Amino acid sequence: MHKFKLGLIVGSNRRESINRKLAQALVRLGADRFDAAIIRIDDLPLYNQDLEATLPEQVVRFKAHIADVDALLFVTPEHSRSIPAVLKSAIDWGARPWGKNSWIGKTAAITGTSQGAVGTAVAQQHLRAVLGDIGAQVMGGEAYITFKPELVDANDNVTDESTRKFLKAFLDQLAALTGKLSAKIAPRAAA
Ligand SMILES: Cc1cc2nc3c(=O)[nH]c(=O)nc-3n(C[C@H](O)[C@H](O)[C@H](O)COP(=O)(O)O)c2cc1C
Repeated sequence: MHKFKLGLIVGSNRRESINRKLAQALVRLGADRFDAAIIRIDDLPLYNQDLEATLPEQVVRFKAHIADVDALLFVTPEHSRSIPAVLKSAIDWGARPWGKNSWIGKTAAITGTSQGAVGTAVAQQHLRAVLGDIGAQVMGGEAYITFKPELVDANDNVTDESTRKFLKAFLDQLAALTGKLSAKIAPRAAA
């Protein structure tokens, strides 16, 4: 089966991030459909338009990584009922400089985890709106994952069977959407 390239963007720069743990588990769980890797954002400078004249090397690397993948998967916590600042800053770098918007046409999906049942719901809703506004093709549906310390084991396996099935179906849906959208976009790109 053809594998799509997937870039995961984790909305946390915390060393022990539970969202990064979930992202690593998703890389493993989706290995039959995707060649997946985390797109690093924790070393990006805070977005500053003054830096656009000579883009920092971390920003150049970040934008090149986005350009290289077929689809994106955002795995994010919620901060103060919205998108964490570190993620919003990365999104702004992706959207800039003017005319070099990295997000246009990218297939994207959103999930996130917190200790509460729907803890990331508001952040996900804000992120969905932002990504849509800047040109990404965002997959529908909802995926709020409640984190328990034992949810992801030391080998990046999701230990709870119903959560694993849910996340596998979510990744399969993203693979199907990526295939559908790239089939639609490819003939136009070739023309
Ligand atoms: C600045 C800050 C704001 C937060 N605001 C929220 C919030 O609005 N809703 C929520 O469910 N959790 C909130 N939390 C708790 C996070 O869900 C929790 O810290 C989680 O572990 C963050 O994910 P991470 O481990 O991937 O960084 C907040 C945490 C921080 C540090």
